[in-house]
Amino acid sequence: MGFSLSLFIFMALFFLLSRLHLIVGQSSPFMQPLCHHDQSSALLQFKQSFIIHKSASMKSWFDFPPDYPHCQKVGSWTVEGDKSDCCSWDGVECDKDTGHVIGLELSSSCLYGSINYTSSLFRLVHLQRLNLAFNDFNYSHIPHQVRDLPRLTHLNLSWSNFHGQIPLEISQLSHLSSLDLSQDYPGIPPLGHPHLELKKPSLRSLVGNLTRLQKLDLSGVDISSTVPNILANLSLLTFLSLGGCGLHGEFPIGIFKLSNLRVLSVIGNEGLTGYLPDFTWSGPLEALNLAATSFSRELPASMGNLGFLNDLSLWGCNFSGSIPSSLGNLTKLTELALGRNSFVGNVPSSLGNLTKLTYLDLSVNSFVGNIPPSLGNLAQLSLLGISFNQLTGPIPTKLVNLPQLIDIYLEENLLSGELHFGLMNETQLEAINLSNNQLTGPVTFGPMNLTQLLFLDLSTNKLHGQISNSVFNFKNLQVLYLSENYLNGIVEFAEFVKLKHLIALDISGNQLSLLTKETSANATLQKFQVLGFSSCNLSKFPNFLRDQDELVFLNLSNNKIHGQVPEWMWNKSTASLQVLDLESNSLQGSLPIPPVATLHFDISNNSLTGNVPKLFCTLIFLQVLDLANNNLSGSLPHCLDNFGASLSVLDLRRNKFQGSIPQTWIGGGQLRVINFSQNKFQGHLPRLLAKCTWLRVLDLSDNQFIDIFPFWLGHLPNLEVLILRSNKFNGSMGTPQTYFKFPNLRILDISHNDFMGKLPLRLLENWKAKNFENVQLSTYIQEYSDFQMQKGFGYNILPQAYTYSMMMTNKGNSMFYEKVQELFTAIDFSSNNFVGEIPESIENLKGAQLLNLSNNALIGHIPSSLGNLIELEALDLSYNKLSGEIP
Ligand SMILES: *[C@@H]1O[C@H](CO)[C@@H](O)[C@H](O)[C@H]1NC(C)=O
Ligand SMILES: *[C@@H]1O[C@H](CO)[C@@H](O)[C@H](O)[C@H]1NC(C)=O
Ligand SMILES: *[C@@H]1O[C@H](CO)[C@@H](O)[C@H](O)[C@H]1NC(C)=O
Ligand SMILES: *[C@@H]1O[C@H](CO)[C@@H](O)[C@H](O)[C@H]1NC(C)=O
Ligand SMILES: *[C@@H]1O[C@H](CO)[C@@H](O)[C@H](O)[C@H]1NC(C)=O
Ligand SMILES: *[C@@H]1O[C@H](CO)[C@@H](O)[C@H](O)[C@H]1NC(C)=O
Ligand SMILES: *[C@@H]1O[C@H](CO)[C@@H](O)[C@H](O)[C@H]1NC(C)=O
Ligand SMILES: *[C@@H]1O[C@H](CO)[C@@H](O)[C@H](O)[C@H]1NC(C)=O
Ligand SMILES: *[C@@H]1O[C@H](CO)[C@@H](O)[C@H](O)[C@H]1NC(C)=O
Repeated sequence: MGFSLSLFIFMALFFLLSRLHLIVGQSSPFMQPLCHHDQSSALLQFKQSFIIHKSASMKSWFDFPPDYPHCQKVGSWTVEGDKSDCCSWDGVECDKDTGHVIGLELSSSCLYGSINYTSSLFRLVHLQRLNLAFNDFNYSHIPHQVRDLPRLTHLNLSWSNFHGQIPLEISQLSHLSSLDLSQDYPGIPPLGHPHLELKKPSLRSLVGNLTRLQKLDLSGVDISSTVPNILANLSLLTFLSLGGCGLHGEFPIGIFKLSNLRVLSVIGNEGLTGYLPDFTWSGPLEALNLAATSFSRELPASMGNLGFLNDLSLWGCNFSGSIPSSLGNLTKLTELALGRNSFVGNVPSSLGNLTKLTYLDLSVNSFVGNIPPSLGNLAQLSLLGISFNQLTGPIPTKLVNLPQLIDIYLEENLLSGELHFGLMNETQLEAINLSNNQLTGPVTFGPMNLTQLLFLDLSTNKLHGQISNSVFNFKNLQVLYLSENYLNGIVEFAEFVKLKHLIALDISGNQLSLLTKETSANATLQKFQVLGFSSCNLSKFPNFLRDQDELVFLNLSNNKIHGQVPEWMWNKSTASLQVLDLESNSLQGSLPIPPVATLHFDISNNSLTGNVPKLFCTLIFLQVLDLANNNLSGSLPHCLDNFGASLSVLDLRRNKFQGSIPQTWIGGGQLRVINFSQNKFQGHLPRLLAKCTWLRVLDLSDNQFIDIFPFWLGHLPNLEVLILRSNKFNGSMGTPQTYFKFPNLRILDISHNDFMGKLPLRLLENWKAKNFENVQLSTYIQEYSDFQMQKGFGYNILPQAYTYSMMMTNKGNSMFYEKVQELFTAIDFSSNNFVGEIPESIENLKGAQLLNLSNNALIGHIPSSLGNLIELEALDLSYNKLSGEIP
């Protein structure tokens, strides 16, 4: 959204500027000589070469509206009657003295058709200003005959569906002061349309001679080159826009120094590098848009000198350092977009001086500290985004009550304190996202109802108390997320249903009890897309689900639902379900088969019995399948061979599955987590697992697999966790194989098997602490399946997480890890038949937190190098034949 919004804003600005140059043919016929006959016939011929059709100008009007189409403009051109003087025609401007046609303003005139070199347009050799923007020239080339219009000062062919190479002849129009050939951005729909190119001739040869240029707009033209230094010589330049041109290389610093430059945009050239110079001068720069480029380094404090700036858009670059407080001096700013960079430090309180700001985006950076209360002075602000930072402290009350505020995004910070919307007046608020913070207390709203509000996300905070009744008065609400808080009390579903536009509701993970009346099954209910009722004290499937045939997400996990899944659940009601979470209930009976659209199916921690039915193999979109902790039995259906082209997680932990895994099984090659632990699987491992290049976790513990050590998994680049504990794996691991690499392994548990020979430390030769340095402490081994809402505010794509859990022996006890930190490292070789000494090279295992070598037949001294394993939390060498002193 940020992208298109900024783009729009920038475009809007450029329209404003251009209004100064509008040309109108309006002069009175008495004062003017009659228009020359050859020119009026050229004009008529030009008109006749097109079809006049609204859609020719509507397309771009929808993309971003210039002016509503003026289809009647050329329609009024006629040689009949008193309007026969072409100088009086709409859009035609004649020279007062000579009567020559010198201006043609036909933008948005609904012209549709091709132009070629025979066009009568090129007979209007006196033309000085030509504007054909926002028409549809059917992907014609710009004809070379443009050289026949040598007097042109203004040439505007923007958004008019020309394509192909821009002709060199334009560079001969040495009077040009304004050249606009901007087009749809190549990346913006409609995709795949041919677009204008400026390669041969290049940008350099095009502008080299156009020394009078004041405005140059080539946005969306495929230039794919570096930015020529020569642009810095165009000393009259006031407006330069090269957005989305495929530019790369270093941006010439001299361009910033052009003393007349008011608008500079190079948005959307990802390969373009550069930095901001020291602005020791104070130029007239009003808009600076470097968004979505690779500009880097810090913002110079001297930016405070750019006193005319009203739009500064630097989102999506590589800028770093802190924001100079001098930005607070840019009091003309209305737009400030610094999101998605690597800024650090505090949000300067001086930004509160920018009282004209309507748009402030600082999200996705590394800002710390409080939200400055001064931001509460930004009375014009309509969008505030500071999400995905590390801000702490309270949200200033004045801020959430700003009169013009429409969207406020502060999610994913560390904000705390209580939140009071003291709303005394009507507000415009449409979207509030404060999720993933540490807000406490009941949220209070003022007496005013947030009647405009569409989206309210307060999930994953520490809110307590009851759900505020005010919420039920926000009558346009579409999305309400209150999950993962400490809210309590009893809520009636009927209350939410009163919000007639509500289609996404998640109150999971609180201490709420949801009451649903039998009678609430009624086809007159609105159709929900998202319903999250995890931990809501439900004892059965709510009846109203029967008619919810647009649901894409349903979470009923952690309730007390018992018995079988009712048959009607699989009727029309769930046909479009993508995520179905029934985890941790008391469901019985056989394994139900979810709808075919399902991406994420979690029915773990129930009491299901019986086999996995063959029909499961029809679930071709499944990404996550979690059947863990049931009483399922039988062998895996053979159809699994070709099952799950998109499957990334297969968790069958803690069931009674048996038999061997089909040798041909590869699981579609997308598998990231395989958990077969605590079953009765037998036989060899399928060798095709070696093709699962994405595999992160392979947990086969507590089964009856018989095989040698799967060294053939050693080249898997992503394998982090390999657990073979308590099986019948055997053989010597002592002879090193050159292809033992395991580049990413950090949890290896081969305990309780029949391995023998020397300790297989060679296996871990690639174990390097540096592997773990970039991992954030707070992240766990998780896999996400994205599902998508079909409508509603923002058409959200939401992630649903699967979290890997495991057993491991720690300090002699078998421990269950409900979540496994990305940083956790452990090696367990215990209870095998390893012999020989512990080599000094054991120090290579630095970073390891658990090391268990117990219950083997190791001899000799304990190597002193063990002392180098400084991260070690538990070391078990017991039950061996070690001798000597403990170092
Ligand atoms: C080109 O014409 C369009 C439509 O009138 C206008 O919005 C735009 O500003 C013009 N370009 C320049 C550089 O003046
Ligand atoms: C548009 O271009 C296509 C393909 O070149 C051509 O077939 C069609 O006749 C053109 N339409 C007009 C109105 O010129
Ligand atoms: C040039 O365009 C005109 C009118 O659109 C058309 O009649 C003519 O055939 C075209 N000539 C060529 C060579 O394409
Ligand atoms: C630019 O101007 C120079 C000198 O007037 C001339 O020699 C050259 O051909 C011109 N280049 C183009 C591309 O028109
Ligand atoms: C900001 O403006 C104030 C007042 O004009 C001036 O004193 C100060 O030096 C400026 N700061 C910067 C960094 O430009
Ligand atoms: C700008 O903001 C700073 C910090 O909030 C403040 O000290 C200063 O007085 C403000 N300047 C103006 C001109 O408002
Ligand atoms: C409510 O609006 C009135 C009139 O527009 C204004 O005077 C008052 O300060 C506003 N109250 C709040 C709390 O914003
Ligand atoms: C808020 O909505 C409720 C229910 O529709 C209504 O009774 C109340 O008067 C509204 N409050 C205001 C300030 O409009
Ligand atoms: C469903 O709603 C309609 C209209 O509001 C009502 O007449 C009907 O009794 C309701 N049915 C049930 C089962 O609640």
